[in-house]
Amino acid sequence: MWFATKDMVISLVILLLVLVTPCSSAFWSTHNKIKTAIHYSPATELEPGSVSNKFYYDIEFPRGHVALKGVTAEVVDEAGNPVPLHQTYLHHWGLFRYYESKSKLSTDTRYDPHRVLHMSDSFPNSHILVRNIGICQGIILGQYYGIGSETRGTNTDIPDPFGLEIGNPAQVPEGYEEKWCDLYNVTVNEYGIPLSPSYEGGLYCCYDQTQCRLRKGFHGPKRTLYLRYTVKWIDWDEYVVPVKIYVLDVTDTVKTLDTSNIASSDHDCRVEYKVDPCNSESKKDNECVDVKRTSLPMQKGGYVVYGVAHQHSGGIGSTLYGQDGRVICTSIPNYGSGDEAGNESGYIVGMTTCYPKPGSVKIFDGEKLTMESNYSSTTRSRTGVMGLFYLLVAEQLPHEHRT
Ligand SMILES: *[C@@H]1O[C@H](CO)[C@@H](O)[C@H](O)[C@H]1NC(C)=O
Ligand SMILES: *[C@@H]1O[C@H](CO)[C@@H](O)[C@H](O)[C@H]1NC(C)=O
Ligand SMILES: *[C@@H]1O[C@H](CO)[C@@H](O)[C@H](O)[C@H]1NC(C)=O
Repeated sequence: MWFATKDMVISLVILLLVLVTPCSSAFWSTHNKIKTAIHYSPATELEPGSVSNKFYYDIEFPRGHVALKGVTAEVVDEAGNPVPLHQTYLHHWGLFRYYESKSKLSTDTRYDPHRVLHMSDSFPNSHILVRNIGICQGIILGQYYGIGSETRGTNTDIPDPFGLEIGNPAQVPEGYEEKWCDLYNVTVNEYGIPLSPSYEGGLYCCYDQTQCRLRKGFHGPKRTLYLRYTVKWIDWDEYVVPVKIYVLDVTDTVKTLDTSNIASSDHDCRVEYKVDPCNSESKKDNECVDVKRTSLPMQKGGYVVYGVAHQHSGGIGSTLYGQDGRVICTSIPNYGSGDEAGNESGYIVGMTTCYPKPGSVKIFDGEKLTMESNYSSTTRSRTGVMGLFYLLVAEQLPHEHRT
């Protein structure tokens, strides 16, 4: 009996291999090679204490109908050397996808390639932002990629045979073309005097060309810096299983309880929040943990292919739970303990990621997820912290995709 069962299992495995191999990894490794391109943003000149928050339109990015497989970025100097966070703090970088009107291009020279626009210019009319699938209101958290100080130590690779479909001509409205823009926000610090990880600031305190307060009498050289970003992609073909991007925000409150009919406007993502100082309530085993939770109804579900959280200094981890309490993904910050770029002491230099075996973690249509973001709280409050979850979800599995 036992042997019979074993035989059955073996033949089943062989059968599966035969069926699955032609359209998954084996096909991929031989036919669809990952391409890599390294690009630099335009230079930004910074003096000690200055803040740069720039929007660059029409950045260099793969053209044509392709599947993105990963994007990484870091701040480098003129020689291409990585700049550590205690010299230049990379608060955020983000990549946005948009359609630009072709007719507008010929008459309006305001949007030259690489022209720098400030956040306050907002999105021009001739451009349509193509946001991710959700779930915040309006254009809030609509980026395709967005990460902060953890950029050097966080894996963004999308496993085979999944990919993020871009540049499909059939999706671009008549008279428009697809382009990408990049926002990056850095603060140059007084060299050698780290911007405190418990730095009190917020989204609305620093904007482009503002100046942080420096030690009296401090003067330092100007520096020329770049955001170097690396894009990995493959040509699109029918074997690629598309994934959708969700960016969940722990500050989001959703008004409606009807999961079949949630409008984007029902969401209220605040992006940032404040961690209150430690009090007796939050004190547990002599440790003070601030736990923030929100409940988020998902209109459409799917299979989780990748998950990662985003937190700021002080963050100690974040978990996304299903309606029944099962863990969908837990992502924990790694703090640096040295001096060199990628290991800066006291900063979040990476986030752990989730790569569930495809098909093993499913979000159901209409399921209400709970997101939890934990920060260690101290005697002082922390302002402007974030609790995001970035999820890649496939609505089909590879074998379903090709039938
Ligand atoms: C830019 O960075 C500063 C500090 O580094 C931060 O306080 C601010 O929120 C950032 N701005 C945006 C729009 O992300
Ligand atoms: C967050 O805190 C809650 C409550 O103490 C705990 O149950 C959970 O495991 C914590 N999650 C992470 C990722 O630290
Ligand atoms: C970070 O630096 C510390 C101190 O030099 C060292 O012990 C540690 O191994 C470094 N970590 C990594 C990931 O390089």
